[in-house]
Amino acid sequence: MNDPLLRARAGESTAHPPGGAGDIVWHPTALGKSARAQQKRQKASVLWFTGLSGAGKSTIADLVEQRLHWRGCHSFLLDGDNVRHGLNKDLGFSDQDRVENVRRVGEVAKLMVDAGLIVLVAFISPFRAERRAARALLEEDEFFEVYVDTPLVVAEERDPKGLYRKARRGELKHFTGIDSPYEPPERPDIRIDTTALTAREAADLVVRHLAQAGRI
Ligand code: ADX
Repeated sequence: MNDPLLRARAGESTAHPPGGAGDIVWHPTALGKSARAQQKRQKASVLWFTGLSGAGKSTIADLVEQRLHWRGCHSFLLDGDNVRHGLNKDLGFSDQDRVENVRRVGEVAKLMVDAGLIVLVAFISPFRAERRAARALLEEDEFFEVYVDTPLVVAEERDPKGLYRKARRGELKHFTGIDSPYEPPERPDIRIDTTALTAREAADLVVRHLAQAGRI
């Protein structure tokens, strides 16, 4: 399989040989993630927010992070728009670049889990296979897929950055929901219907779910 998109979808890395190059050997460390997380009185976890542009991912994730902070939890928010200013500024919006975008942030989230943190990831992350690959990097109970479910008509009506208008005029190509696909989660751990809940109610729901799962 030579096509990088197909390889990534099959769970293989696009940028590095699987398992690292033959001459690179994993160096074990004395301290593990559970020791680091225990010191923080939490279980390291990833809240992976997925949904259309303008669905409310960043707003809700931001409110969740504030609530975690108030409870004394240690967290970090990886937001698509922000990570694309630095680590991923070399990537655009072709399918292949989105796959790489999500692959990198999955690896960063894993490093942050190793650091013992509650990691909030807010990326469109439109493809099921890439979200599955991100989940596969972690233990099953560490990963929570949070579907910020906002119908396209509602996101387009909100259009907080004016990007849907641009996409409809043909000034922005490969826009998710318009001329680039979004594959909704089939069995998200948490589903947020943003037409029924306010952002604050949604954030409370997510924090409650984490607490009930014994992560915080
Ligand atoms: S992802 O599809 O690769 O996961 P990501 O979450 O990093 O996307 O970035 C999405 C953000 O980039 C959107 O919220 C929007 O502000 C901006 N953006 C710019 N061009 C596009 C596009 N063609 N499709 C989607 N979002 C875009």
